[in-house]
Amino acid sequence: MLKIKNCLKFVNIFKINTTKRHSSKLNTEFLNKTFSIITDYLSNLKSGKINVINYLSPEELQKEIDLKLSDKDTSDEEILELTKKVLKYSAHSGHQHYCNSLFGGFSEYALAGDYISSSLNGIVTAYELAPVFSIMEKEVTRSYCDFLGWTHVDTMFAPGGSLANFYALLSARHFYFPHAKTDGILGFPRMKIFTSEVGHYSIEKGAIMMSIGSKNVVKVKADKYGRMIPEDLEQKIYQCKHNGEFPILVNVTLGTTVFGTFDPINEIADICQRNKIWLHADACFGGSMFFLEEFREKVKEGMSKADSLSWDPHKVLSVPMQCSLFVTRHKNILLDCNSLGADYLFMKDKVIYDAKIWDKGDQSIQCGRHIDVLKLWMYWKAYGSAGISVKLRNALDNARYLAALANKHHNFELIVEPDYVSVSFFYLPNRFLNRERDDKFWEELDHIAPKIKADMVKRGKLMVAYQRQSYNGQNLVNFFRPIVTLGKSKDDMEHIINEIHEIGKDL
Ligand SMILES: Cc1ncc(COP(=O)(O)O)c(C=O)c1O
Repeated sequence: MLKIKNCLKFVNIFKINTTKRHSSKLNTEFLNKTFSIITDYLSNLKSGKINVINYLSPEELQKEIDLKLSDKDTSDEEILELTKKVLKYSAHSGHQHYCNSLFGGFSEYALAGDYISSSLNGIVTAYELAPVFSIMEKEVTRSYCDFLGWTHVDTMFAPGGSLANFYALLSARHFYFPHAKTDGILGFPRMKIFTSEVGHYSIEKGAIMMSIGSKNVVKVKADKYGRMIPEDLEQKIYQCKHNGEFPILVNVTLGTTVFGTFDPINEIADICQRNKIWLHADACFGGSMFFLEEFREKVKEGMSKADSLSWDPHKVLSVPMQCSLFVTRHKNILLDCNSLGADYLFMKDKVIYDAKIWDKGDQSIQCGRHIDVLKLWMYWKAYGSAGISVKLRNALDNARYLAALANKHHNFELIVEPDYVSVSFFYLPNRFLNRERDDKFWEELDHIAPKIKADMVKRGKLMVAYQRQSYNGQNLVNFFRPIVTLGKSKDDMEHIINEIHEIGKDL
C-alpha cells in the first residue's frame, strides 16, 4: 500500500513539472528572467561592481552550488537562482581587470550574434540548412582575405585555432602526398614540420593526430625577442633534406603565445619558396593586426608567398569563444583532402542551387559545424574595419603604456618590449632588489609569481597569467604576462602594476 502511495506521489510530481516543461507554448517568462539576470550581470561587469573572480575552493564551491543531477526535475525559480550562482562564481573574462588569457573583453554585438546562433541551433554544412550563413562565411572571409592580399582562396571556420592549424597540416600533407589520405603515411618519406621553439603546441598536437609524430616537428631557434631565426631554419631544412626526409610545412607565428612577437615572415617566405615548402602563418593570436594598414604593408611580401593562414577572432577582439578561420590559397584542396562524399548528406544532384559551390560540409573534418561566423560578422558590421583598427591601436598603446610603467618601477623588470598586446615582466619583491643574480636568486624568484597569483585570485581584483619560458638558450623562471585585450584603459594598466605590487612587495 505504502509502495503504491509513493508511486502515485512520484507520478504526480512528474505530471506537474512535465506539463509545464513540455507545453507547446514558449516559456517566455523563464527566458525573460534569464535575460534580465544576464543583463544585470553584464552591467555590473561593465561598471566594475563585481570582482573579476569570486574564488571558492573546489570543496567550498560544491557546497555552495548544487550541481548534482538526479531523477527529480527542478523548478524555474530554483534554476534561476542557480543561474545567478553560476555567473557569480565563474571567472569574468569580460571584466576590465581580466588580463589572463589571449581572449577577453566583451561586445554586446558579438554576444547578440552568439545568442542568435544558439537560438537558431543551425549548422553550416549545406546551403539549404544555412542559406544566410553560407553566404556570410564567404563574405567575412573575402573581407579578411582582402587584408591578406589573397583573392582565390579555400576556407573553413574551425572550432578553435588548434584545429585551424590542423587544417594547414592536413592540406600541406595532401599537397605533397595526396595518396596519404587513403593509404596512410607508411611507405612515404619521413615528413618533417618546422616551427619556432616558442611556437604554439597545436602544431605538435596536429603532427600527433596525423601520425607524423611530435618528434618530427623540428624546433627552430628563436632570437632574444622570441622571433624565429631564419638562418637556423634554413640550416635545419638543409639537414632534413640531407637525411632523406621530406619537409612538408614551415609554420611562422604571427603573434607568439607568450611574448606576442612576430616571426620574420618575409625572409622565411623566401626560404620556403627556394625549398618549395608549404608556408603556413599561425596568426591565431596576431591575425587581428591585419586590420592595420601599416602591419599589412610590413608583411605584404611574405604573405604574397604564403600558402595558408589561421586566425582566431576570439582572441584579442571581443568575439566570444570560439571563432577561428583557416584560409588557404590552394583552391579546392580542402575538398580534395577531406571529402568522403557521404551519400546520405552531400548530394551533388540538388536541383535548386549548385551544391558544388555552396555546400561546405564535405570539406570539413567535422560533420555538424556550429555557426561561428555570425558573432564575428555582427561585431565587424557594428564597428566597421576602421572602428576595429582604432580599438586595436588603443590596445597597442595601452600595452606600451604598461611596459613603460613596468620599466619605471623598481620592482618590475620588463623581459621584452611589446610588439603586440602581451607585456612580459618579472616582479621582484623588495627583498630581491639589489641582490646578486646567482642561481639562488632565480630559484627563489621562480616561486614568487605562483604565490602572487594565488593571492591575486583570492582577492579577486585582477587575473594575470604567469609562466616559465625556455628559448634562445635561456630558461626564464616564472614571470607575469598580462594580455591587453581591446577596450581596456590606462587606469586598468596602472591597476595591474598596483595590485601586483600590493600583493608582492613583502613576499
Ligand atoms: C599562436 C597560437 N596558435 C594557436 C593557438 C590555439 O588556439 P585555440 O586555443 O583557439 O585552439 C593559440 C592559443 O593560445 C596560440 O597562441
